[in-house]
Amino acid sequence: MNVQAIAVGAAGLSGVSTDALVVVLTPAHKAVAGDTALDRALQSAAKAGDLQIKPGQSLYLHGVEGVKAPRVLFVVARDASAKAFRAAVAAALAALKGRSFKSLAVAPLAEATDAHAEALCLVLEQAAYVYTHTKPSAESAVVPTKATLLVAASALSQAKAGVKRGLAIAAGVTEARECANRPGNVCTPTWLGEEAQRVGSAHGITVKVLDRKAIEKLGMGSFLSVSAGSDEPPRFIVMEYKGGTAKAAPVVLVGKGITFDTGGISLKPAPEMDEMKFDMGGAASVLGAMRAIGELKPKLNVVALIPTCENMPSGRATKPGDVVTSMSGQTIEILNTDAEGRLILCDALTYAARYKPAAIVDVATLTGACIIALGHHHAGLYANDDDLADQLLSASRDAQDPAWRMPLDDEYAEGLKSHFADVANVGGRPGGSITAAKFLQRFVGDTPWAHLDVAGVAHKGGAAKGATGRPVGLLTHFLLARAGKA
Ligand code: BES
Ligand code: MN
Ligand code: ZN
Repeated sequence: MNVQAIAVGAAGLSGVSTDALVVVLTPAHKAVAGDTALDRALQSAAKAGDLQIKPGQSLYLHGVEGVKAPRVLFVVARDASAKAFRAAVAAALAALKGRSFKSLAVAPLAEATDAHAEALCLVLEQAAYVYTHTKPSAESAVVPTKATLLVAASALSQAKAGVKRGLAIAAGVTEARECANRPGNVCTPTWLGEEAQRVGSAHGITVKVLDRKAIEKLGMGSFLSVSAGSDEPPRFIVMEYKGGTAKAAPVVLVGKGITFDTGGISLKPAPEMDEMKFDMGGAASVLGAMRAIGELKPKLNVVALIPTCENMPSGRATKPGDVVTSMSGQTIEILNTDAEGRLILCDALTYAARYKPAAIVDVATLTGACIIALGHHHAGLYANDDDLADQLLSASRDAQDPAWRMPLDDEYAEGLKSHFADVANVGGRPGGSITAAKFLQRFVGDTPWAHLDVAGVAHKGGAAKGATGRPVGLLTHFLLARAGKA
């Protein structure tokens, strides 16, 4: 993607040479100050009732006298925020659909910040992305080959930083979507390991991919119990980004990488089961965030751990009632083989301890119950540490990648008691997303830890079926802020 920020010259917006000029108004910014040609067109259209200053409204004009750009689109944002700007630019791109233009310039009349610049990059990613890997016939999107954010000179350095960050996050989002959209017979654990290696070698990140033997040697009996029914070999992916000093404790990201979740012997019903190819969305977002970090090179150490396998029924599959021993030594009674995400994550959380991490954040499409609780807007955020929770919530706001904190009271762990093991892998239907988080908490000790249940946000169903790339933005902002660079 080709995006840049430049300062508006002495000739004003009318003097900008571009194929299409998008002017973003707000109810408080409805005049193009100091630009007679553009403002005359705007005011006369408004007076004629052709442009209402209401959020989402737009007006397309061709060949405005005194304006260098042949195409002008006025669009109204709800307010001056980056969030409203993002929605307005998305509306503008939709309104420009079918028009002939290669370059695009976007001029917010309200003050532009780095967040606005980042938003522009993310809107363009959204508009440009088309899944083609197994559908080469897909029509490619019509998007500008070059986009420019026009800002006041005083805002230029901020806007440039926002473009840089936005492009890296957009690339991370695309990476996550590309991985998660691939069907289960393409995006296998082996393929995911190879993809991690590709991302690593392109961005100076060390990658190790452990095979079944190595995973057995580590004693990851819980992880391996999920893989037991599958003919696809499991992988444990370890990525190490070293941007900090050798001694600095890293942040460890952990991503659930179930490349297909049939439920195992506790088989899922057939409708929509295809969407369980997205059950590696947590892993995909961690990989996407590593890619963004590899591009931005912040000064901190980050480790990404991805346990990845299939959850299949077979004669060798784990059965309800089976008891397995996790890497931590805790025994687990598997009462429902469909609660498999926590079983692969718990061993990765135990493995994380060897880094003596400053913080651990796991990301998982973990529970349908989280979708019932929060729908498809907020991710569920759990944390055993208030500071860490606040950092993630603030990253979530900055990235426009919503997350909502959920409770972790010990009372919620009651249902996880087992007659035959230290813990059961399910705790009944009530508060199902919370009990899953309580299960994970048993494996992190006192290390500051957070868990993002992204079952409702990592992919969409229905007509818009596909991966969203969330929460790459949240994770990247979180890591940049930890490095003091946000
Ligand atoms: N991968 C699913 C959760 C999920 C469901 C993600 C729908 C996205 C959309 C997970 O492995 C699962 O099956 N969870 C069970 C847990 C239950 C058996 C305690 C669930 O949510 O039903
Ligand atoms: Mn499952
Ligand atoms: Zn699952």
